[in-house]
Amino acid sequence: MKSEHSLFSQIRSSFEKTPERSNGGRPFVTLSYAQSIDGSIAYRPGRPLALSGRDSLLLTHHLRSIHESILVGIGTILADDPYLTVRHINAKSPQPVIVDGRLRFPLNARALKHNHQAPWIATSEKSDVEREQTLINSGAKVMRIPSTPDGLIDLTVLLKRLLEMNITSLMVEGGAEIITSFLKLRLVDQLVLTISPVYIGGMHAIWPLQLDLANPPVLENISWKTYGSDLVLRADLAWKNS
Ligand SMILES: NC(=O)c1ccc[n+]([C@@H]2O[C@H](COP(=O)([O-])OP(=O)(O)OC[C@H]3O[C@@H](n4cnc5c(N)ncnc54)[C@H](OP(=O)(O)O)[C@@H]3O)[C@@H](O)[C@H]2O)c1
Repeated sequence: MKSEHSLFSQIRSSFEKTPERSNGGRPFVTLSYAQSIDGSIAYRPGRPLALSGRDSLLLTHHLRSIHESILVGIGTILADDPYLTVRHINAKSPQPVIVDGRLRFPLNARALKHNHQAPWIATSEKSDVEREQTLINSGAKVMRIPSTPDGLIDLTVLLKRLLEMNITSLMVEGGAEIITSFLKLRLVDQLVLTISPVYIGGMHAIWPLQLDLANPPVLENISWKTYGSDLVLRADLAWKNS
């Protein structure tokens, strides 16, 4: 492990150099979220919690600006009402993508009302057609994606579809169910984890017993830097063969 002065340059060059980017049939995926020292990303499900300090938040906005798209689950939209834009620096915002199997996306969500890029909402083939039309009339784009046998949006199909729409880099910001699904499906190339120096004892980033413990992801090429009182860790994810 080594501490880097310019973690951001390392993050950027890592994903620019990665050969799999866009030729593995999906965009390059950076998983980025903030957790407390005990691994909590929220006090409890559905409740927002600002964990990142000012400096690490600035890094997050730099990160957003170098990715073509940003993805969150509908649980995060309902809990945090995020803008999903780049605001703390003068740079282009990524295309927002929301994973929302039942079209629960609220019409007054900031990601729709205060984002000049209309959100793309990935929903199931069974979602309500009238609700779809209402969202389209409000400016959103709705993408119908097949579901997995357990009723979730098939993220592998979604990523393939995003690549077909010229999205070659994707930043996944959460929440817990989405983070767990991306890791479970081995769809993560790079991790950028902000660790805040607090104990929360709340909702963990990874759902218990969801990962294949025989073949867990391993972090490689790890580097880190402190931003204010937060520690930010960057690593490539290496997946063992099954
Ligand atoms: N600290 C951080 O960095 C950070 C970042 C983001 C969020 N958060 C926190 O995380 C919490 C929200 O997390 P969450 O787990 O409740 O919600 P989430 O991960 O944002 O969204 C999960 C929902 O997405 C839908 N979904 C559809 N297909 C899916 C798939 N293949 N995999 C996963 N989800 C799929 C499901 O809803 P349907 O059944 O309706 O389709 C599912 O319940 C909030 O409290 C928020 O504050 C923290």
